[in-house]
Amino acid sequence: ILVLETLLVVLWMVESLALKQELSRGSFPKGFVFGTASSSYQYEGAVEEDGRGKTIWDKFAHSFGMHYINWQLNANFRRNKKYNVEPSLSFTLRFAGKVIDFSNADVAVDHYHMFHVIFIFFKESKKKFSFIEKHEIQWLYFQGKWKKFLKFILNLQQNCIRYVLHGFADGGGEVNQAGIDHYNKVINALLAKGIQPYVTLYHWDLPQTLEDRYNGWLDRQIIEDFANYAETCFKEFGDRVKHWITFNEPHSFAIQGYDVGLHAPGRCSTLLHLLCTAGNSASEPYIVAHNVLLSHATVSDIYRRKYQRTQQGSIGIAFNVMWFEPMTESSEDKDATQRAQDFQFGWFMDPLFFGDYPTSMRTRVGERLPKFSEAEGALVKGSLDFVGVNHYTTYYAKHNSTNLARALLNDALADTGAITLPFKGWKAIGDKAFSIWLYIVPQGIRSLMNYIKDKYGNPLVIITENGMDDFNNPFISTEHALKDKKRIKYHSDYLSKLADSIREDGCNVQGYFVWSLLDNWEWTSGHTSRFGLYFVDYKDRLKRYPKSSAIWFKNLLRTG
Ligand code: NOJ
Repeated sequence: ILVLETLLVVLWMVESLALKQELSRGSFPKGFVFGTASSSYQYEGAVEEDGRGKTIWDKFAHSFGMHYINWQLNANFRRNKKYNVEPSLSFTLRFAGKVIDFSNADVAVDHYHMFHVIFIFFKESKKKFSFIEKHEIQWLYFQGKWKKFLKFILNLQQNCIRYVLHGFADGGGEVNQAGIDHYNKVINALLAKGIQPYVTLYHWDLPQTLEDRYNGWLDRQIIEDFANYAETCFKEFGDRVKHWITFNEPHSFAIQGYDVGLHAPGRCSTLLHLLCTAGNSASEPYIVAHNVLLSHATVSDIYRRKYQRTQQGSIGIAFNVMWFEPMTESSEDKDATQRAQDFQFGWFMDPLFFGDYPTSMRTRVGERLPKFSEAEGALVKGSLDFVGVNHYTTYYAKHNSTNLARALLNDALADTGAITLPFKGWKAIGDKAFSIWLYIVPQGIRSLMNYIKDKYGNPLVIITENGMDDFNNPFISTEHALKDKKRIKYHSDYLSKLADSIREDGCNVQGYFVWSLLDNWEWTSGHTSRFGLYFVDYKDRLKRYPKSSAIWFKNLLRTG
């Protein structure tokens, strides 16, 4: 054990030196929180247990049929010893099924049963890391080695975790006590370890009953139903949960679910996607977003009027936000860059901060963009205590005026009159992670924080997600997969830029969550993509192992 401990310490030192790591917890202001993020459908499994109802993602992931044709070429010709990157070439053709590897999240990473596995016990033999089994723990205990053994607990030292509630609401109007009991157990277990839960109320898994009854987010009835669900959460958990996030990435599910058709409920508005489950007009994403904003504002109003004073918590909402750089210095491209940001982030932020959609959207979307009544505008404006930002990547934006592209590409995206790309000619904007969309551009986070500060008056921001994925390569060993130096570099570089934006530019950022604690089920990419600080062994009882990045993150949070 001593040898192993010494080895670990040496490893940490070497790693820090290799990365010239000056970053520490002390690089961030007092009270800054660090955590990891997760979500119910991607983690929990247990889809038939404790009265959980079906969701639109259960149906979507289980449906089969010609859906989308798409290819992906991943090439990396450079060997980079420092970051453990080998040359590779892979090609994927996606031609059928909703999820690339035909998986679903019926089991996911079984977090519903394994939520208490926050501390990971592991041992290292010559060949592999493995969990210490229960009987071995008892054996060590009987030998009186329990205390020494505890040193090997890899507690991430995080002080919060972002968690999504599901499983106790099936859309039927009845509250499911078994689900409430489960989340009470989770919340209490976290608090007992000094970890604050940041709870997301909606991370894309709408009860299927509501989709069947009235088309879910397309109908205003959802506002009342969502408010009832949220109020149940405030009543049941609000004495202990002090941070609420109403929605996760409404832009993602409005566009992916109602325009491109790649996410549940799989509706789309494009010529290219005629094979979606339902065709629609290019109004749907805008209607969905409008109902989401009204639901958020209604829930926030309820919380503030009835619960905030006694429960002393705060309420926010989390957005997916890329940073955009103009492709060229032309004024056309600069305007297109602003429009790309308006249609992504301004779509939600402008109503929340100024009471209405951006002018560029009003002009270009016209009658298809719903209107707020005066009372609604006033309800939405200011209805948040913090802005959650899920930031991963940066793209170039370029002016686009061709009607052909407008007709062939999906309409709502074409409304922007901007094309966003990770390439300038053949040159990529940054190194690539595994996901087709994820390019590594650390400076982007600093630019984005400054944009928020300047445009919206320096509101309180929490980075609710930041991370990168690796390919779930079936041919490499677990030990190899655990050495994720590229991920360490990603987080270390993004955190450095974030720290600069706070210290040097005065941006009001007060928290950072890594996506994600564990490898998990990545929507249409299924289990092909691994985002976790912890490796999940899909071939062996979903055992969890710390990657190098987990150890790095723990050490970062222990220093300074
Ligand atoms: C966005 C989403 O919130 C999360 O569900 C997803 O897994 C990650 N980002 C990575 O794509």
